[in-house]
Amino acid sequence: DASDMEKGTYPHFMLKEIDEQPLVIRKIVQEYRNEQDQIKLDTDIRQAMLDTDRVYIIAAGTSYHAGLVGKQMIEKLANVPVEVHVASEFSYNMPLLSEKPLFIFISQSGETADSRSVLVQVKKMGHPALTVTNVPGSTLSRESDYTLHLHAGPEIAVASTKAYTAQISVLAILAVDTARAKGIELDFDPLQELAIVSSAMETLCDQKEEIEKIASDFLETTRNAFFIGRGIDYYVSQEGALKLKEISYIQAEGFAGGELKHGTIALIEDGTPVFALATQENVNYSIRANVQEVVARGANACIISMEGLDQENDTFVVPKVHELLAPLVSVVPMQLIAYYAALHRDCDVDKPRNLAKSVTVE
Ligand code: G6P
Repeated sequence: DASDMEKGTYPHFMLKEIDEQPLVIRKIVQEYRNEQDQIKLDTDIRQAMLDTDRVYIIAAGTSYHAGLVGKQMIEKLANVPVEVHVASEFSYNMPLLSEKPLFIFISQSGETADSRSVLVQVKKMGHPALTVTNVPGSTLSRESDYTLHLHAGPEIAVASTKAYTAQISVLAILAVDTARAKGIELDFDPLQELAIVSSAMETLCDQKEEIEKIASDFLETTRNAFFIGRGIDYYVSQEGALKLKEISYIQAEGFAGGELKHGTIALIEDGTPVFALATQENVNYSIRANVQEVVARGANACIISMEGLDQENDTFVVPKVHELLAPLVSVVPMQLIAYYAALHRDCDVDKPRNLAKSVTVE
């Protein structure tokens, strides 16, 4: 049928969409660059970012995980405080708002009912809203004041991949644009750095056999798996765990490396797979200490590190990119590990049980 044709030679949309990521990043760089090679962004959005005293990011699922990374970038680069909220919680459990809040809705589909219900509420309160979405004509886009387009092309697989990396890329551009508008000096050109990311992603997409082997080595018979990281790696761990549980039905959770000893480590048994991310210099030592703790209790540890921070027995090393953009490359092996784990278990990769691509009920 028609949808099979769009898959081309790919067995699944998810694999196709993972492979499209280098191109999507390049497309984003193109779309957000002007003739002077500077960031091109709607001046109203720039002004909204200058006017706010606190950004509230609202999202669900994978988009929420992209929001967590976005918070890091906006706070670190642009010095604007950011809170990230799960949409379904925010709507009945609203935190105290700052004087001049700006709401940023992150939604691949632009149709998620939980997010929409928050949008309706905050518009009633008179607050400005920006939607970051892959579907410019979507409900969230139409009902908010501003839209940033992801340019990722249609995402068909239920498990989101290219939308996540596109969301982080667009949020990086937004963060740097805000910083520049505020006169903050940065030695970080997101357009250049994203071009480097795009090439790094290509390298990763050519390493499928190696990554498939990781899925076989660590996940073949297990019923659970843990993902750990610190700082920005913690957020990617949560996304890695979500990908795996969504499509392979292996019970998986992402934890902050330092929090492990406060409970979760009780679950580590002989052979329990633990995926540890090490892409951040300031926590490289401490996350590796956490790995030793779980290994001492029998865990089967898979260390995924970044070039420059890697050590001798690391399982997989991703190419070096700017630290703040590390999620864009470290998530690719996570996506592929989930993909192959699901494939090896004969799961329906593109249409996992119980899940819908866009959830239009609260
Ligand atoms: C559903 C999908 C997830 C997605 C979430 C948010 O649960 O299965 O993959 O992350 O909705 O979707 P959105 O379109 O708002 O990003």
